Amino acid sequence: MELSALHTRFQEVFESEPGRAFFAPGRINLIGEHTDYNGGRVFPCAITQGTYGIARRRQDSLVRCYSLNFEEAGLISFDLSQELVNRPEDSWTNFVKGEVKFLRQAGHTIDQGFDLLVYGNIPNGAGLSSSASLELLVGITLESLFDLSLTRLDLVKIGQQVENHFIGVNSGIMDQFAIGMGAQDMAIYLDTNSLDYQLVPAAFGDYLVLIMNTNKRRELADSKYNERRSQCEEALRRLQAGGMQIQSLGQLSPDGFETSRHLINDDVLERRAKHAVYENQRTVQAKEALTAGDLKTFGQLLNASHMSLQEDYEVTGRELDTLVHTAWQQEGVLGARMTGAGMGGCAIALVAKEAAEAVQAAVGQAYEASIGYPASFYIAQVGAGAHALAD
Ligand code: GLA
Repeated sequence: MELSALHTRFQEVFESEPGRAFFAPGRINLIGEHTDYNGGRVFPCAITQGTYGIARRRQDSLVRCYSLNFEEAGLISFDLSQELVNRPEDSWTNFVKGEVKFLRQAGHTIDQGFDLLVYGNIPNGAGLSSSASLELLVGITLESLFDLSLTRLDLVKIGQQVENHFIGVNSGIMDQFAIGMGAQDMAIYLDTNSLDYQLVPAAFGDYLVLIMNTNKRRELADSKYNERRSQCEEALRRLQAGGMQIQSLGQLSPDGFETSRHLINDDVLERRAKHAVYENQRTVQAKEALTAGDLKTFGQLLNASHMSLQEDYEVTGRELDTLVHTAWQQEGVLGARMTGAGMGGCAIALVAKEAAEAVQAAVGQAYEASIGYPASFYIAQVGAGAHALAD
């Protein structure tokens, strides 16, 4: 949808003067999955698909929200003079409320309402971070409308607080960080323990990143996600109780893990911790391989990541496994893995440009034959972080 069409819809829906336009991307994660809440490394990039918003300040205390993705929901309004609480019937606008609440809690003044029209072209719940995209979109919109003095990192952290304490998903910081800090054609190599990061050219030469969407609804995904996080915390607690001087699983090398894993003394918890430790190491190696232009090694690390998420972390499921395993069998594919939280959502594959169409056709056919409904495919374009759009 063209930006001018969004401006027109804004004025129609709210019977108002023109508003200002903002954009926040979605993200893919190249590697480093379920490491961000374990103090490990992640390697995501922002993509050019994302969430657009048009907004305008109001004179009263009303906030009126309208999404072109959920037109049947109509206008959803709330009043800033009332307590901001998460109510299921307020659906996507809970993210808006959460952002206002946590910005205010951080001492920022939002004393007037606003009208907000939103349109997203990232498929919802596909594991490409439509929720963090919406959080950052609302964050930069409010920053601009109310002239708030915030660093980008402040906005990233507020987005994560909304997710953790208003929405109820105990996510790490990767998604908000990638969406807030992303840059054109760059991947973000982030140490989630120190928050030090480096932009690394997302240069794939004759290859491209193919996003493969299972189109599976991520049922129970949030509760399983929170369960994985608790399991890692419990594994860490047992290692510490056994005398290990570590603050996070990300501090353990694979050797350190192998000599201390018996302290965990539970098969499931051991496998969860093993994934976190080895995935962290793979992420370091993948960043080195990509920097060196060694796409073959990079691809092999993607494959190893998927196997670990399948067998040790157990967050893939039949749909993601079908996409990834079928991709592995295709000519021209250097590697493939699930991306994001898993349990449905998307996978990525590193595919020779000339083979992309054939891979898509072959994987699509095998997926539909085995799962019973089609997958979707998009070519990832690595884009900029959240920003205002020219009027
Ligand atoms: C979700 C969370 C992130 C991260 C990934 C898994 O996207 O929001 O913080 O934990 O899952 O790597």
